Amino acid sequence: MIPLSEPKITSADIRYVTDQLKSNFFGPGKTNEEFSKKLAKITNRKFAITLSSGTVALTIAALAIGLKKNDEIIIPCYGVFSVINAFATIGLDIKLCDINPENGSMDARKLEKLISKKTKAVCFISFLGNIGEDLNRVVSICKKKKILLIHDGAWCLGRKIKKKIGCSQGDISITSFSVPKIVTTGQGGAIMTNSRRIRDRVMGLIDQGDKNWRKKNNINSIGSNLRLSDLNASFGLSQLSRINLSHKIRRKNFKLLNRLLNDRLIKTLDNDYSFQNVILAKEKNKIIKFLRSKKILATNQYNLYSKLNFYKKKYNRLKFPGGELWASRAVYLPFGIAMKKKSIIYTANLTNKILKNLS
Ligand SMILES: Cc1ncc(COP(=O)(O)O)c(C=O)c1O
Repeated sequence: MIPLSEPKITSADIRYVTDQLKSNFFGPGKTNEEFSKKLAKITNRKFAITLSSGTVALTIAALAIGLKKNDEIIIPCYGVFSVINAFATIGLDIKLCDINPENGSMDARKLEKLISKKTKAVCFISFLGNIGEDLNRVVSICKKKKILLIHDGAWCLGRKIKKKIGCSQGDISITSFSVPKIVTTGQGGAIMTNSRRIRDRVMGLIDQGDKNWRKKNNINSIGSNLRLSDLNASFGLSQLSRINLSHKIRRKNFKLLNRLLNDRLIKTLDNDYSFQNVILAKEKNKIIKFLRSKKILATNQYNLYSKLNFYKKKYNRLKFPGGELWASRAVYLPFGIAMKKKSIIYTANLTNKILKNLS
């Protein structure tokens, strides 16, 4: 079976994790600190704080920038359910914005129309790794309207396009270290910001209200324990040190598959490689079924939030033509960094075959 996303594990990763185990120290400590410092550096931010998942990172980011129950936040209408859940957990009033049918990112023109006096924040997802024009537009709309911006950079950590760097935009940005991401710790995430005040709030929220993480036996506010262990951080640190190489591999794989598929893969608006391999096709379900029968784990990765059982009641009557198109046509093909050339060619040949048979 060709998995949707297979991480590439090297002997260096095994050495980093083994060294951490041999040190006999596993809790959040020096390795966590080193990992966080390196994250801040590669995202061009003053501060990075690691924590237990990307979903939790979104929730904590919203709290840290001051959002409270019933505050209005606008998010894209299509994508991973972690995003809507992260904000619903703390009772935010979530408004959905349609996506750009060409690349799946939040549609900036529609966002501008949706913003009202009630809107406190926007969450822009760098969908497929997109740090192109869509993000620029959303950044300037939020600045102009004085609205807070949470940048979800789960798919753009370490991405550099011209002078742009992934996860460096917005009042606060987050990333995820779940298995399909460019750096994985199994589960994990991080928050990046340039504001000392926001950083202190995040630190307190994820460790019992203590921004200094238990250096003194006292607290100044309420918090939980959502920190990343040194064991997870050691695994992440190792991958972070070769992140440029991982992006190079991903870019090369994308270009090869795209060429073999006659330029059919969706590209991000920075006009370079996408982090996932997506085609839009009317016969989505037939294509996925066929590819799976040939041991290629193509998927129907995401959905419209308005179609999820739990959120249907609130959003079902709303129309999202861009999101509808993606929900009904997007086929996600394997994209893992560890994918071999042979598997890319096999995936391309069978995808072309089924597309031809269906046309
Ligand atoms: C865009 C986006 N945001 C947030 C998340 C949540 O991250 P996690 O799975 O680490 O909780 C994901 C997970 O895939 C994601 O794709």
